[in-house]
Amino acid sequence: MHALVTGGAGFIGSHLALRLLGDGHRVTVVDNLSTGYRGQVPAGADFVYADLGNPLHLHRLDELRPDVVFHLGGQSSGWISMDAPLGDLEDNLRSTILLADWALAHGCRRFLYASSESVYGEGSKERPFTETTLPRPLTYYGCSKLAAEHYLRVKADNSPLQHTCLRLFTVYGPGQDLANMRQGIVSIYLAYAAKGEPVVVKGSLDRTRDLVFVDDAVAAFIAAAAEPRTIGLELNVATGVSTRLGDLIREMVAAVGVPDLPVHPEAGTPGDVLHSFGDASRLTALTGWKPVVSASEGLRRAVARYRRSTPG
Ligand SMILES: NC(=O)c1ccc[n+]([C@@H]2O[C@H](COP(=O)([O-])OP(=O)(O)OC[C@H]3O[C@@H](n4cnc5c(N)ncnc54)[C@H](O)[C@@H]3O)[C@@H](O)[C@H]2O)c1
Repeated sequence: MHALVTGGAGFIGSHLALRLLGDGHRVTVVDNLSTGYRGQVPAGADFVYADLGNPLHLHRLDELRPDVVFHLGGQSSGWISMDAPLGDLEDNLRSTILLADWALAHGCRRFLYASSESVYGEGSKERPFTETTLPRPLTYYGCSKLAAEHYLRVKADNSPLQHTCLRLFTVYGPGQDLANMRQGIVSIYLAYAAKGEPVVVKGSLDRTRDLVFVDDAVAAFIAAAAEPRTIGLELNVATGVSTRLGDLIREMVAAVGVPDLPVHPEAGTPGDVLHSFGDASRLTALTGWKPVVSASEGLRRAVARYRRSTPG
């Protein structure tokens, strides 16, 4: 199989590309390196530099005939979207419309999309979020992810497109960018702890998140791609376990070896939800997918990778 992985120079996409290569598939990574790094693209994958929001750049892919598209490329921060809604719209919505058109024009129907828990916002009191929870995003990022889901649905109603939208909850793990202090709750806190600096927390320590280890998120993409019954669906990728951020930070600073590091809560960022956790039983019922890495084990692995990358 030939897989096109957009965002494959980023955190989740590079893990997915590595897994696909390991499974014996051909992989082409497409990325504009806005938050990703060329060096993060796994050896063995072809690389095309392209901004997917730019139709002229899409011509750079014209020789390719992938069997499946995994579309993870995009602006991945709710916080940044609040400062730059139009940039977010280009990177998340426009890119998805253009790429789905490109895929169909090049004979590729299967299209897996990295959507987000952010589509739910806080509009419903219902927890855990299920796919039937009324989506009511609180950030422009959540709006563009939700709109992209709907564009794919309407396109699929009017074309042979076979899409699946995976609503990822908070994905974390080794390889997250510790230099990016505006995206990735776990990596932001780990970055402070790694530098031995007080951990600045934007928002309440009582917020809760559903932490999905990156290998489990990757396994969800692989499982969904292989199961035709996921076509046309939006599916949560979640553990159903709710972790309080104050507890997460305590465990992390202990793992890094700086348990007395002060924690400074500050005002939250716009659109940040208080409690988010999801029910992935639909994905499990269809594919057998289940998360296998607990938050404690995942944190241990993330800290171990950070230690290996900073010897001494
Ligand atoms: N990390 C999470 O917890 C999480 C949760 C829900 C959804 N997601 C989604 O999963 C995907 C991957 O997230 P991530 O955490 O790996 O983020 P990331 O920022 O590490 O990766 C995103 C990649 O997309 C690339 N990119 C951005 N805009 C692009 C464009 N216009 N054209 C081509 N490439 C572009 C970036 O350079 C980067 O390599 C994103 O779509 C994100 O919205 C992530």
